Amino acid sequence: CFSPVLYPVYHDPEAIVVVVDVFRATTTMAAAFQNGVSSIRPVASVEEAMEYKRKGWLVGAERNVKRCDFADFGNSPFDYTPEKVTGRDVIFTTTNGTKAITIAKSAYHVITGAFINLQAVADFCRKHGRDVVVLCSGWQDKVNIEDTLFGGALVDVLVSTGEYEPATDAAIIARDMWRNNRNNLLTYIDPTDHMARLKANHLADSVPYCLTLNSAAVVPELTIEEGILVLRTR
Ligand code: MLT
Repeated sequence: CFSPVLYPVYHDPEAIVVVVDVFRATTTMAAAFQNGVSSIRPVASVEEAMEYKRKGWLVGAERNVKRCDFADFGNSPFDYTPEKVTGRDVIFTTTNGTKAITIAKSAYHVITGAFINLQAVADFCRKHGRDVVVLCSGWQDKVNIEDTLFGGALVDVLVSTGEYEPATDAAIIARDMWRNNRNNLLTYIDPTDHMARLKANHLADSVPYCLTLNSAAVVPELTIEEGILVLRTR
């Protein structure tokens, strides 16, 4: 699935939904869990995040790639160091990534994926043996390259196990995009819309990290009851 507006077309309540925002929300979530965060509550609006901040919560907030003034953290994976987040519950709002998580809510499992936890996500999907829908956060409902590439990488890993096959043209397009560009990711990504946004705001420092495979063996999963992301090991 290539963008949030297409999600209803591909929606399957029995599937595992993998929400992806490579630059940078779901990479940042995986990094935060890798660094010991206890839970992350994705919230849709800045107002809601501010309300949590007023009540004393630790808050990460980003709009249009910039950190919101009132927040403790922005949306860089490097903000969420073990010293700052170990054992802590964090409230998180971002322009597109946390919005996509709220859209995904009604699936069997909702987890977040990024290149840094690709293998852990693939292992989780295999363990549960269910169909997989990748919900790309995109940018303001539009398609983007980096999230589609992640979808293709996940298709490639799952198909290589012999237990999955690409069920739609969307999966095949994404897989082929990944296969054609996996060896020069930085060059392929360079002319994209989001790279321009990050560069214009001097925030492209985390891009190589966001494109590194499997540095975080974590699977953040949304708990349907509480609406928070917690670590899943099973
Ligand atoms: C988003 O949610 O749109 C992003 O993660 C944007 C960013 O901070 O790079």
